[in-house]
Amino acid sequence: MNDKITVIGSGMMGGAVIKSLAKGGYGGKMTAVDIVLERLKEFEPLGVKTSTDNKKAASDADIVFIIVKPGDVAKVLAEIKEEIKGKLLISVAATAPLSFLKKHAADAKIVRIMPNLGALVQAAYTAYCCESNVSVQEKEKVKTLLNTMGICEEIDEKYMDAITAVSGSGPGYLSIIIEAMTYAGLKVGLPRNIALNCAAQTFMGTGKLIVDLHEDPAKIKDMTTTPGGTTIEAIYQIEQSQIRPAMIRAIEEATKKSQAIREKLKLE
Ligand SMILES: NC(=O)c1ccc[n+]([C@@H]2O[C@H](COP(=O)([O-])OP(=O)(O)OC[C@H]3O[C@@H](n4cnc5c(N)ncnc54)[C@H](OP(=O)(O)O)[C@@H]3O)[C@@H](O)[C@H]2O)c1
Repeated sequence: MNDKITVIGSGMMGGAVIKSLAKGGYGGKMTAVDIVLERLKEFEPLGVKTSTDNKKAASDADIVFIIVKPGDVAKVLAEIKEEIKGKLLISVAATAPLSFLKKHAADAKIVRIMPNLGALVQAAYTAYCCESNVSVQEKEKVKTLLNTMGICEEIDEKYMDAITAVSGSGPGYLSIIIEAMTYAGLKVGLPRNIALNCAAQTFMGTGKLIVDLHEDPAKIKDMTTTPGGTTIEAIYQIEQSQIRPAMIRAIEEATKKSQAIREKLKLE
């Protein structure tokens, strides 16, 4: 695959997508676009062209990613709608539905995705949904691109707010747990760097066990728990901490917030 890709909005997530595709060996030409050229310097050593001209960069591309804040999407699409006629437009803007994107880019082939920051290290979970005019071959292209950043899954659009809350924002909450385990390591006398490495790597390994071996988390829990041992002692404490309802409430509220942002910004 060597389609020319333009990424409009090369901030936190746009930068992660660009770096991920470049590091993952994407063969086609890429252009990173943002408002301030200075911000784009970091992409040049990756062989990525840089620009501040949305129209020109969209016109030169076969596939355009739009990775700006939800409130900036309509403005960018108004600028590039002629240039993206018949092309794949991949929107990463949280909360903005396909119907809204279609209103502002009627002749593009639109895909809405929700990745997460794991893209920076080719370990993203990305959910995507497509407009009905996206062909099977175009979906295959999208899957190839998204698999370069980690793993991807096609979903019904009605799940996007929930996906945003679980995996889009997820690195934020899971970092709190890693931080808490690091503090716990300090409390029981580990040097800081060892505590952090051992917490983070344990987190990563546990996720990999569940994903790669298709194991249920409860099974992994049982596999580490021996009668009268250390794990059951810790689990006994954790079960009294209300961590499960806290996580459920947090994700439920994040899902509602996604809906509320869409209503506030009138992205329907
Ligand atoms: N960060 C995440 O973990 C994450 C995860 C999933 C989805 N997303 C989605 O990704 C999108 C971007 O989020 P982000 O965190 O990457 O935000 P960000 O760091 O603010 O990046 C957006 C970039 O787009 C630039 N921009 C704004 N208007 C533009 C325009 N008209 N033309 C070209 N560039 C423009 C911004 O410049 P200025 O700063 O000067 O405005 C900024 O550099 C959002 O819709 C968000 O919902 C983010």
